[in-house]
Amino acid sequence: MSIGFISKDFYNGLFDNNTALNLRKLEGDGLVSELKGPFGSGKEALVFYTRSLDNLECAVKIHRYSINPFKKIPQYMRIRRKKVVNNLSIINVWTSYEYKYLLKSYNLGIKVPKPYRQYRNIIVMKFLGYNGIPAPLLNEINDFDKERVYSILLDSIKKMAKAGYTHGDLSAYNIMYFEDEPYIIDFSQSVKITPSTKDYLIKDINNLNAFFKEIKTEPVEKILKEVGLFE
Ligand SMILES: Nc1ncnc2c1ncn2[C@@H]1O[C@H](COP(=O)(O)OP(=O)(O)O)[C@@H](O)[C@H]1O
Ligand SMILES: [Mg+2]
Repeated sequence: MSIGFISKDFYNGLFDNNTALNLRKLEGDGLVSELKGPFGSGKEALVFYTRSLDNLECAVKIHRYSINPFKKIPQYMRIRRKKVVNNLSIINVWTSYEYKYLLKSYNLGIKVPKPYRQYRNIIVMKFLGYNGIPAPLLNEINDFDKERVYSILLDSIKKMAKAGYTHGDLSAYNIMYFEDEPYIIDFSQSVKITPSTKDYLIKDINNLNAFFKEIKTEPVEKILKEVGLFE
């Protein structure tokens, strides 16, 4: 195991020993080097900036093992038909779902940070930002072409729905604005659309429409019909 950049001083209090081991594994693979950050609320996940050995700028998203996953995760695990075993494994499964939906979206051509790797509770993806500082979230800016951005995001929702899933937590807090384009992030609550989860799709559409209320938005019913789901 490499001695690594992750000294006890650095991770003490920030994350646990298991996470430090997982980071060292990624460091050994050349994907992660010194971390800068964390960015974001840090309540459930920590996001850092790093560079890989071959100089890719990466965002490293770490799901905390220390959170109480029995609050909201079991509901999702039921939807996803996964058994809750223990904290460590539930967070790893949770992370793998986020990665799966990030990758699916990337492969559908939706604007998301390019996924590089998932290992246990860590996701490594393309860093969206400038000089190691994350690009703004959509709710932090005002000076952008609303019609254009809405139409890109609406198209993304439709693509996902036609592929059978929805983001699950779509809001201006989970959309970054980078190089004049909106990027959807944070697929941790994505779900397969079934009769019992259709409401998650409706909520995503309503959130998007509410954020763009100043412009003409498409009615939910029309969207559901287009993607093959009738009200
Ligand atoms: N690929 C990325 N590039 C740059 N910054 C990112 C990236 N992904 C997330 N971030 C930053 O980290 C914050 C938290 O990320 P997010 O995935 O929404 O986690 P959570 O909401 O669970 O804390 C975002 O608001 C953004 O500022
Ligand atoms: Mg988020």
